[in-house]
Amino acid sequence: MSHRRFHDPEHHKPFSFTSATEEQIAWWERKYPTERKWSAVIPALWLAQKQNGGWLSEPALRAVADRLVMNYIRVYEIATFYTMFNLEPVGKYHLQVCGTTPCMLRGAEKLKDFCERKIGPKGHVSGGGTFSWVEVECLGACVNAPMIQINDYFYEDLSVEALEQLIEDFAAGKEPKPGTYVKRQTSAPEGRPTSLTDESLYDGSKAQALTSIPNAPKPAPEGGPAPAAKA
Ligand code: FES
Repeated sequence: MSHRRFHDPEHHKPFSFTSATEEQIAWWERKYPTERKWSAVIPALWLAQKQNGGWLSEPALRAVADRLVMNYIRVYEIATFYTMFNLEPVGKYHLQVCGTTPCMLRGAEKLKDFCERKIGPKGHVSGGGTFSWVEVECLGACVNAPMIQINDYFYEDLSVEALEQLIEDFAAGKEPKPGTYVKRQTSAPEGRPTSLTDESLYDGSKAQALTSIPNAPKPAPEGGPAPAAKA
């Protein structure tokens, strides 16, 4: 399990929202009634983290609390609970390695060992600031285990060799494609799908055949009033 420790506040730089971040926070805030604007705290933290280079410093946490008129402790509680919020500086490419049972049974231990050898100890940023890695709990892509989230994207069905190539590509400034790293269509069985293989399911023809919803009210007769709905 990942540890959740605040970075030494003595090294934190002042933080204030850019106008672009402020605009996005305001968008989230408008989704909720005025007296419930605290509901925007998770997207606000996420945006603050993005602006702050991938992690939340104490000034950034306070800026979110001040922006939404919340007690600091309420914002700290949320930021320390969810592992999607990083409380220490991370690398330009931050790897979240899933270590929960399905990924563990499919090779996550080897991926963690490789990260340790290639990047360094869990939770530390590699020399040059390019990479960091942590272990996290299930990220919800178990069907394509083992998997790693790198920044905003999932990389799935990974072997050590595939991970090594990914790291080399990122280090070289390339942008490897997210998704599965074996021959399969999204989460279908390896090789080819074995069910729902009728191509007409995907060409839109079935949707065109559906002209009315079975329990929808009948259309009004031409020129007359709409039929009364049955109790
Ligand atoms: S166990 Fe790894 S994604 Fe669910």
